[in-house]
Amino acid sequence: MNWPIEFIKNLKLKFGDEYTEILNSMDQKQFSSIRFNPKKRYDDSFGQKKVKWETESRQLENEYSFVFDPLWHAGAYYVQESSSMFLGFVFDQLFHEKQPQTVLDLCAAPGGKSTHLLSKMDEKGILVSNEILPKRNAILRENIQKWAYSNVIITQNKPIDFQKTSNFFDLILIDAPCSGEGLFRKNNKAVNEWSVENVNICSIRQHQIVENVLPSLKNGGYLIYSTCTFEKSENEDIIDYAINELDLLSVEIDVSEFPNITKTKTKGGIGYYFLPNKVDGSGLFMAVLQKKGLPFEPKQQVSSKSNVTFSEWLKPNESINIIEKNDRFFLFPLAFTQQISQLSQALYITYLGIEIGQMKGKELIPSHQLALSDCLKSDFQYIAVDKENALKYLKRLHFEPLDMPDFLGWTLVKYENINLGWVKLIQGRINNYFPLNWRIIKDLEF
Ligand SMILES: C[S@@+](CC[C@H](N)C(=O)[O-])C[C@H]1O[C@@H](n2cnc3c(N)ncnc32)[C@H](O)[C@@H]1O
Repeated sequence: MNWPIEFIKNLKLKFGDEYTEILNSMDQKQFSSIRFNPKKRYDDSFGQKKVKWETESRQLENEYSFVFDPLWHAGAYYVQESSSMFLGFVFDQLFHEKQPQTVLDLCAAPGGKSTHLLSKMDEKGILVSNEILPKRNAILRENIQKWAYSNVIITQNKPIDFQKTSNFFDLILIDAPCSGEGLFRKNNKAVNEWSVENVNICSIRQHQIVENVLPSLKNGGYLIYSTCTFEKSENEDIIDYAINELDLLSVEIDVSEFPNITKTKTKGGIGYYFLPNKVDGSGLFMAVLQKKGLPFEPKQQVSSKSNVTFSEWLKPNESINIIEKNDRFFLFPLAFTQQISQLSQALYITYLGIEIGQMKGKELIPSHQLALSDCLKSDFQYIAVDKENALKYLKRLHFEPLDMPDFLGWTLVKYENINLGWVKLIQGRINNYFPLNWRIIKDLEF
């Protein structure tokens, strides 16, 4: 591999003789890892090797074709490189006593860290998952909808827009756009796009992002900053800027059980490197900061519950609320009604909670996400399919259920007892409602 000279120079300056090991490791193959969705099922066909800092994970030791696994399409697991999963470990350490009520993932697409935060938050708080770029926001929506948690709002805003929600979040994650050196092992494009000029542009942008979003962090709230690069100007310098200019405190994470994580001291703080010669995953930097002062806890007001119930579709649940927007119905936790109304006045929301469906005349057309969600009644009628027919369903081709049912109407399609989506059974016909733009377009391999 032809590494850029300035990149090698910076790497040597920072990591000394270890830089050759880092470079050599970047020429080696990296296998994927996956993180299970706690709401769905654990599957041991992936072997037993876990990512060290995440119990609900598997480190794969071979290539795996996720596109042809129906359970991946059903949101049963997320494919995420293992270093990034350290976020869950940090979350547990920061919030082992009291769960955060309000969390912002500012740079969220494609959604790896947002789905992880949702699993960790266990529906005890609300997650605002933001992505500024419209095309990437669509990818984020797809991944979040498949994860199927109700306590989430997806927004498409600039960091500065969050100043309208001042003193609001208990935790803000900034997984910043960066020069991507940590991805060099996986991605030659990242190497070709690297330049000193781009590192400088990234650094300026990162300073602005941190400064602009900070007013929306509560006093006492935490800011987790991460990048997938090794550049001092994008990592240590940002942490020192936050400490010296923005008056944040550096927070130490106990990583004593993981000798493979490289602790680094900035001038005034602490950060953690995941170097590809020492870990299975990509290169990553992460640091935790805290805003000074005591948190101001606004009084929880009692929220009014909507009268709509959709009792023939949803499990009875006193703690959810339902709202309507242009004939589309969404459910989300009742406890966060106030926060959602506050956020909707300040931000551009592109998705909310779990969509139940859209009313067409008197009929509800159920949303795909409802099929994947545990809010749906558990005894809803279904047809089961084998793997070959599950993949045909996901491709929107003609498929055969294991048993032809004698009922009609909206019906779930299940593979290995996991919901894949909807069909509508009409006398002698099966209408496939798997979302057109999410269907498998690769040729099927059996
Ligand atoms: C490293 S990626 C995020 C990966 C994501 N957190 C995950 O775990 O899947 C950084 C994201 O920041 C977004 N971004 C780019 N410029 C931005 C800006 N000025 N402010 C906020 N986000 C930005 C990019 O579109 C990109 O999706």
